[in-house]
Amino acid sequence: MTRIFSGIKPTGHLTLGNYLGAVRRWAEVDQHEAEALFCVVDLHALTVEHDPARVRRLSRQAATLLLAAGLDPALCTVFVQSHVDEHTRLSYLLECTATDGELRRMIQYKEKSARAQASGESVRFSLLSYPVLMAADILAYRADEVPVGEDQTQHVELTRDLAVRFNQRYGHTFTVPKATRPAVAARVMDLQDPTSKMGKSHESGAGIVYLLDEADVVRKKIMRAVTDSGRVVEYDRETRPGVANLLEILAACENGNPNDLAGVYESYGALKKDTAEAVVEALRPLRERHAALAADPGYVDGVLKEGADRARGMARPVVDAACRAMGLLPAG
Ligand code: AMP
Ligand code: TRP
Repeated sequence: MTRIFSGIKPTGHLTLGNYLGAVRRWAEVDQHEAEALFCVVDLHALTVEHDPARVRRLSRQAATLLLAAGLDPALCTVFVQSHVDEHTRLSYLLECTATDGELRRMIQYKEKSARAQASGESVRFSLLSYPVLMAADILAYRADEVPVGEDQTQHVELTRDLAVRFNQRYGHTFTVPKATRPAVAARVMDLQDPTSKMGKSHESGAGIVYLLDEADVVRKKIMRAVTDSGRVVEYDRETRPGVANLLEILAACENGNPNDLAGVYESYGALKKDTAEAVVEALRPLRERHAALAADPGYVDGVLKEGADRARGMARPVVDAACRAMGLLPAG
């Protein structure tokens, strides 16, 4: 059976980009068709300046939202990265497989380190080694597929390179995984700046729809989305990025096609109105389930504990095998 692994960082409140680009597919497709593991990757949230209490809160909230989005602990494994030591054990072995040069070529590292330096912050070493930990997350489970948004493609490519290199040097140990992407909305853009990704850790909230935003807030954000000054509703990411983004969001919510939808609308206003309603409807059940689950943190903690126990059982033999393959003496 195909094995799937994916993760989400607790660096901010989850967004519509997370949902349409990743989480919805995990719930609607992946958990039903494969042996799937979904992880709140809290160690990744420590690569930038953070408030410990906030990371703790956001980790529980992310796990609660994953369950609210429909992940079913009877069908898949939901857990927190730091509860399973195997991730960091394997990460070190992979640091001894990766090169400094290939890590410095990662687009996200270049962007995030430039941003940190520009605002006078120091760049943590873990920001550079981050994709190695991500590779460890995936390879520890011998995952075949990694369902992610477009921004993670380069990191999954690196994971593949590390798996191949390790296997060649030390004998076959890891499965070489591949990234899979949703048909539409693999890159949901910021509503106020449709040339940049809708990202949960961006400062301004006006262009970002959060999964827990009230319906009226969602409507307002979408009605105020930046478009161009044209009038024709066309699906063209290059010349009309704002309109294209709305068409993709609407298409994703309605399982439609952005090109076909473009032909249906005669004004930007009508497109915005329908997109707003479609998003409100898509998020309604999730918000309702979230409210019920948040009232029962003991249940969520139980799911996470069971998930970590199961994940550990899967990862330990793989990471032990990697240690032996690299020449480490078994503990006996
Ligand atoms: P992150 O929030 O960076 O931990 O991302 C968790 C998952 O959501 C990853 O698979 C990302 O690729 C995906 N994702 C994050 N932001 C977006 C976005 N704006 N559009 C599509 N997918 C996204
Ligand atoms: N780096 C991913 C992101 O920023 C999160 C992540 C960490 C991940 N480990 C992973 C995604 C393993 C898929 C598989 O979105």
